[in-house]
Amino acid sequence: MNYRHVYHAGNHADVLKHIVMLRALLHLRKKDKPFLFLDAHAGTGLYALWGDEALKTLEWQDGVGRFYDPSGHAVLLEPDCEVLIEPWRQAIASVNAAGQPLSHYPGSPGFALRILRRSDRLLLNELHPEDHGKLAGFIGGDKRVTVSDGDAAVVVKAHLPPPERRGFILIDPPYEREDEARRAVRMLRDGHRRFATGAYALWYPVTGDGLSDLIAQEVLALALPKTLKAELLVRRAVKDGGLAGSGLILVNPPWPIADELAVLGPALLERLRQTEGAQWSLNWLTDQG
Ligand SMILES: C[S@@+](CC[C@H](N)C(=O)[O-])C[C@H]1O[C@@H](n2cnc3c(N)ncnc32)[C@H](O)[C@@H]1O
Repeated sequence: MNYRHVYHAGNHADVLKHIVMLRALLHLRKKDKPFLFLDAHAGTGLYALWGDEALKTLEWQDGVGRFYDPSGHAVLLEPDCEVLIEPWRQAIASVNAAGQPLSHYPGSPGFALRILRRSDRLLLNELHPEDHGKLAGFIGGDKRVTVSDGDAAVVVKAHLPPPERRGFILIDPPYEREDEARRAVRMLRDGHRRFATGAYALWYPVTGDGLSDLIAQEVLALALPKTLKAELLVRRAVKDGGLAGSGLILVNPPWPIADELAVLGPALLERLRQTEGAQWSLNWLTDQG
C-alpha cells in the first residue's frame, strides 16, 4: 500500500466527491430517522495543505485552491451554485483561520462529521496503519463514530444492512492495485445485495487508460436500478497523463441530487478546467426508478 491521500487532498477530484457526498448526506438528514454513513476508505480526516507531502504535488491549488483567493477569501460561484456548496465551504472554514490563506482541507470523515446528528452513526474504515492511527486521533472519543482498520470489502459486507435501514456508503479506493476497479464494483454489488435501499457513491479516476470505461461497463452489467454517473474532466484524458478527471457512480442517490448536479456540474467545470478537453457529463446509467 503506497497510496497516501495527503498528497492529493483538496484536488479537483476531492472537490467533486466531497460536494456531492455532502449534498447526499444533507438530504438524508432531512428525515428525522437516523442514518449510517459508512466510509469504507476513510483516509485520515484532515490534511495540512502546506505540509511536505502536499507541497510535493500542490494538487490542491488546482482544486480547492481555485475557490479561494490567496488571502483565504472565498471566490464565489453564481448564487444558485454557491447555495449548494455552502456546507462544503462551512466545513473548510471550520478548519481554517478566518482571513488567512487556506492551511487545511477536511477529508470525507471531517465533512461527514459536520452533518451528523446525535442519533446518526459514522463508520470510518481505513486500512493503512499510520493513516488509521491519525484518523482515530482525529475522531477522539466521539461516541457516534466507530473507526476500524479492516479491508473495505470485508467491512462493507459485515456492516450492511445497518439497523437504521437508512444509509450512505462511500467506496473510495486508491486504485493502485491492478484489480482494484473490479474489486470496487464488487463492493458496490455486495453492498447493494445486502442493503438495496441504501445510497451508494463509488468514486473513480479518469486517467486515459480505459479504467473509467471499464468501471462504467461493469456497473452497467450489475443492472442496479437508479444508477447515476457524474463525471468531470479538467483536461483531455490521455494515457500516462495523470489524473485528468474523476467521476462518481451514484446508486439510489437522494432524488434532488440529479437536479442539483445539473446546476453545479457546469459551474465546477468552469472553475476547475485546466486545458482543452475539459468536460462535464451527467447521465443515468439505468432507470431513475
Ligand atoms: C482516496 S483515499 C480516501 C480519501 C477519503 N475517502 C476522503 O475523501 O477524504 C483511499 C484510502 O483508502 C485506503 N485503503 C487502501 N486500500 C484499502 C482497503 N483495502 N480497505 C480500506 N482502506 C483502504 C488508503 O490507505 C487511503 O487512505
